[in-house]
Amino acid sequence: MDATARFAAAATEAEAVFAAAATTDEVEAARIRFLGRSGVEAELQAVFAAAPGPDKRTLGPAFNAAKQAMRSAWETAKARVAAVESDEPIDVTLPPRPRRPGSIHPLSRMAREVESVFSSMGYEVADGPHVELDEHNFGRLNIPADHPARDHQDTFWVTAGSERKLLRTQTSSVQSRTYAEVGAGLLTPPFRRVAVGRVFRNDAIDATHDVTFTQVEGFVVDRGITVAHLVGAIRTMLGAVLKRDDVEVRMRPSYFPFVEPGFEVDIRLSKEPEGSRLARWMELLGCGMIHPKVLEAGSPSLAGWTGFAFGMGLERLAMVRHQITDIRVFNGADLRALRQFA
Ligand code: PHE
Repeated sequence: MDATARFAAAATEAEAVFAAAATTDEVEAARIRFLGRSGVEAELQAVFAAAPGPDKRTLGPAFNAAKQAMRSAWETAKARVAAVESDEPIDVTLPPRPRRPGSIHPLSRMAREVESVFSSMGYEVADGPHVELDEHNFGRLNIPADHPARDHQDTFWVTAGSERKLLRTQTSSVQSRTYAEVGAGLLTPPFRRVAVGRVFRNDAIDATHDVTFTQVEGFVVDRGITVAHLVGAIRTMLGAVLKRDDVEVRMRPSYFPFVEPGFEVDIRLSKEPEGSRLARWMELLGCGMIHPKVLEAGSPSLAGWTGFAFGMGLERLAMVRHQITDIRVFNGADLRALRQFA
């Protein structure tokens, strides 16, 4: 066999052996045999080197072709075996991961329900900014800069550019903004609105206080509105939101600078067993007849109009509804607690 034929035969043999290798070990054995230090390739190299000078011209390409063929047979076999060996069996008996669908936060759900109850009573859903002007949170609500009522609502102040603003301490700011809309000619009475939103107070956190909580502000401006309308609206709303027919309501005189007269409303659930927390009176909201000064601060055209307003803590309401005893559940981001309301 001349050298050229030997090169070709070696390539053909290597291709067959690599093609037949079925495991990594067999491929490796073939590699050693053909491409190893003292393998076939090395032998052919020696044959080439020993050939007389003039023959090298024709032997060179033949030797290179054989070398190429052996190496590519090796690469192909390596890839084929690796693909087969990594093909792990699928264990069809593996139990599926439990599905964990998300759920609406109990407060958001409560907010939506409250909005829908008020919508059905003809209220328009309104909103206002969290970062608010003193004017709307206090000034136009009949709480001037030196008024002691500010002490009840320890305020977070922020500087926005050159302006001193605050994080609203009450959703009554939405009342002020609404009356200002009338002043700007964008709204004409009569109107009814409800605003559900976050408020902020620099309070110490405990089971019933957080630095941020949610208020529901409802207000009606019309001709001839009386306290009877206010009581009726509150009764209807509470029954619907708490989904109970035993909500007892108690009004106590109270003071808020932007209403006159003002009240605090307590509720209890009369069908609850005696001694239960829900059978005891619980403070739920503040309300009253809108102070004429507040209406007129928004627009002189509101002189002579009447209205009522109330502000209620949504967390309190959700706590009654879901029998939650610690307000920190709402902002605690503890999924174990929140999932219970899914
Ligand atoms: N904004 C009052 C508060 O946060 C509640 C309130 C609203 C009282 C509307 C009367 C009328 O305490």
